[in-house]
Amino acid sequence: MKRIVVLTGAGISAESGISTFRDSDGLWEHYRVEDVATHEAYERNPELVLNFYNERRRQLFAVEPNEAHRQLVRLEERYDVQIITQNIDDLHECAGSRHVLHLHGELSKGRSDVNPDLIVEIGNRDIKIGDLAPDGTQLRPHIVWFGEAVPNIEPAAAMCEEADIFIVVGTSMAVYPAAGLIHYVPREAACYVVDPKEVPVSRKVTFIKEVATKGVAEVVERLMSNI
Ligand code: APR
Repeated sequence: MKRIVVLTGAGISAESGISTFRDSDGLWEHYRVEDVATHEAYERNPELVLNFYNERRRQLFAVEPNEAHRQLVRLEERYDVQIITQNIDDLHECAGSRHVLHLHGELSKGRSDVNPDLIVEIGNRDIKIGDLAPDGTQLRPHIVWFGEAVPNIEPAAAMCEEADIFIVVGTSMAVYPAAGLIHYVPREAACYVVDPKEVPVSRKVTFIKEVATKGVAEVVERLMSNI
């Protein structure tokens, strides 16, 4: 079976009703990264940071996967498919994708601030001051903040090295190390990029300038009939 690796960003969930970060009216137009998405911000004002993610989590439980998430599941009928997502939502899992690696954490989990491996399921619950991780420290969101290490980047790079086909959907490729994963994809692998805007990629790709629901369906159609 050929191996497809898919790198997704906020754009794939946009049509489900979740804001992207850097588009006009995106999240980073309404909040400053340094106020809500760094460890320094959390030390300064934990309640503000917890509330920011509580709000994201509440939104998540009101949305559903869209056709782009669902089309990627279809590929599993004929390919070995690995999704690498920068998203902290669980829409790939909800749609039924079986192999999803989260680079930037997951809203439905919390963790110890001291031990990043001490992760607990919290479902759709808010995290409040006083909620404790199993080691007795304040529970924090299981989110990789700016300036923090990205523990899943190594397995992600190894997956990219094995790709026969690489698909990028809905990411501005502005944030490293995620944006650098494309460099691990073998030169002979076919590469597709789906995004309504131009995104910078430093290799030859088939660019599909469409929103995710339309563009992913197009790529999947090609790949399902092209065997
Ligand atoms: N379909 C496909 N792509 C879309 C759609 C859509 N309907 N709407 C917007 N996009 C594209 C935009 O054109 C843009 O290229 O999605 C991309 C979103 O880019 P960003 O907002 O920068 O999101 P992302 O690339 O996922 O951000 C990476 O930055 O803030 C951090 O941790 C956060 O994981 C996030 C990381």
